[in-house]
Amino acid sequence: MFWWKEILISFSVIVFIAAVEKYPQYIEGYSLDIPVDHFSYTKDDTFKIRYFYNLTFYKPGGPIFFYPGNEGSLEVFADNTGIIWDLAPLFNAAIIFIEHRYWGKSLPFGNDSFTDVSRIGHMTSIQAIADFAIILPLFKKTFKISNDAKIIVIGGSYGGMLAAWMKLKYPELIHGVWASSAPVVWFNGGGTPIGGYGNRVQKSFEFLGCNPKILFDGFNAIKILGKDVQGRQALADIFKVNPKTPLNSEADVQKLLTFVQTAIENLAMTNYPYPTTFLASLPAWPVKVACSFINQTPSNPSLADLANLMKNISKIYFSSELTCLDVKICGNPENPKLADVWDFQKCTEIIIELCAMGPPNDFFPQLCTDRDSFLRTRKQFCSDNYKHIGWTADFMRENAIRDIYGWDFRQSSNIIFTDGTIDPWGAGGVTNDTPGISDGQNRQIFNFIIEGSAHHLDLRQPSSCDPENIKNVRYQIVQIIKTWLNPSLPPYQPKPLPAFAFSNVTNCEYLYNQYPWNQN
Ligand SMILES: *[C@@H]1O[C@H](CO)[C@@H](O)[C@H](O)[C@H]1NC(C)=O
Ligand SMILES: *[C@@H]1O[C@H](CO)[C@@H](O)[C@H](O)[C@H]1NC(C)=O
Ligand SMILES: *[C@@H]1O[C@H](CO)[C@@H](O)[C@H](O)[C@H]1NC(C)=O
Ligand SMILES: *[C@@H]1O[C@H](CO)[C@@H](O)[C@H](O)[C@H]1NC(C)=O
Repeated sequence: MFWWKEILISFSVIVFIAAVEKYPQYIEGYSLDIPVDHFSYTKDDTFKIRYFYNLTFYKPGGPIFFYPGNEGSLEVFADNTGIIWDLAPLFNAAIIFIEHRYWGKSLPFGNDSFTDVSRIGHMTSIQAIADFAIILPLFKKTFKISNDAKIIVIGGSYGGMLAAWMKLKYPELIHGVWASSAPVVWFNGGGTPIGGYGNRVQKSFEFLGCNPKILFDGFNAIKILGKDVQGRQALADIFKVNPKTPLNSEADVQKLLTFVQTAIENLAMTNYPYPTTFLASLPAWPVKVACSFINQTPSNPSLADLANLMKNISKIYFSSELTCLDVKICGNPENPKLADVWDFQKCTEIIIELCAMGPPNDFFPQLCTDRDSFLRTRKQFCSDNYKHIGWTADFMRENAIRDIYGWDFRQSSNIIFTDGTIDPWGAGGVTNDTPGISDGQNRQIFNFIIEGSAHHLDLRQPSSCDPENIKNVRYQIVQIIKTWLNPSLPPYQPKPLPAFAFSNVTNCEYLYNQYPWNQN
């Protein structure tokens, strides 16, 4: 999740590339006119929201599987959530993915949507879930799906947060939720440590068989080389820096550090057991590949060795020949204006308190030490990027998520949370300290912690290279959804997941419609 990166704070980036995997199939539709502002009576602007649907498996009595779009074009999520297509036939379910406002083809003011706070200011999660809440009943009506059809929301990452928040806000509309890798408590007071992300990245490398502490020396080597003209020339040669974004100053070198950090973070986030094309085209277990470079580095490496190591690792993720230090100048995003949308949410309501802290917490250069320094850094970033469209410090509502939704699940029911132990975002998932989780089972609230799993692996199309514990969690989730849909079944008692083990299958292929994946 959280793709367009700000310069100073550790977050992740997406590079949109065409998926080469077998696409799930769906039909594109557009909603009727939806209010741009659901919560006031001062504007009457409306717009249309895009959705994808597939009714092939739907039979009367079946539910709706609904995926709430995240921060990206809807195709990205539809093409990377294969499990929904696998499960729909088991449940006679209708499938619908709805795009998040201000992304893809769901722009309230067309190309002008981003140019002023009077327009982009309607880009909030609560407006987005209000869109979904209006469209879902219309979807039933339009396609003659019974009004009683139960809605199960399945979402990953920010989409998983939206799913959980919908259950809290619209309990009568939403019957059940599968929220995968959703960092719903990574906010002020939620209990997630600020360094949680970087620490998980470090653990992910250790899990894949190397000691990544040398990467801290690698970042330092780049900084040291970056101090003078000669060193910057050496870096430019090693990284093949694009001449359009030259390394002329230490500020430019900071961009190179960010580039490397982004690559490493995203390798950890999408460290899947088989080759994928979600954020970039990656080999199986890409962190393992990075570890093999670390393990081959000479002892007593020179500055140049260290810089080469950082380059080699970055190129696993950013595979283009030349290193581009500013996507707005030489990158190839689908629309550079869109690059700002998620960052804007990080300057208003989604104040996930996260940044790299350096050793021993993580191997990244230290960007902050505590909450105050995090907030200072963030506000500076927001001012640098959005002052010109009208942002002021008052826009940053540090407690917006707590105040709008919170994370108290004591009155809620029918939610499955899943998190992976090597997913950096997994650090922000619910815990037994989150109200309503430890005693959630009698309200059918479950929290599965999946060892060795990266960012929402459980939602992907099953693969012959999936570890046993992922197969098992999917199997248990099917049993839970069955009990949600059939009140005559006894409540589900979850079982411990089998221990993680690397799959010994070498030629990974996607498995279609193979439920129950040898589980019982
Ligand atoms: C729905 O998905 C199934 C499985 O991918 C596919 O066979 C079917 O053609 C799809 N239906 C539509 C209308 O796209
Ligand atoms: C919006 O911008 C895109 C990309 O620059 C362009 O292709 C499209 O025609 C523009 N749309 C309108 C309505 O101006
Ligand atoms: C980096 O990769 C190059 C070419 O693949 C290789 O020759 C070199 O030894 C690697 N260096 C390090 C430190 O990984
Ligand atoms: C892979 O592991 C499974 C279960 O542990 C075992 O039955 C199978 O023989 C193994 N296959 C190979 C090729 O090692």
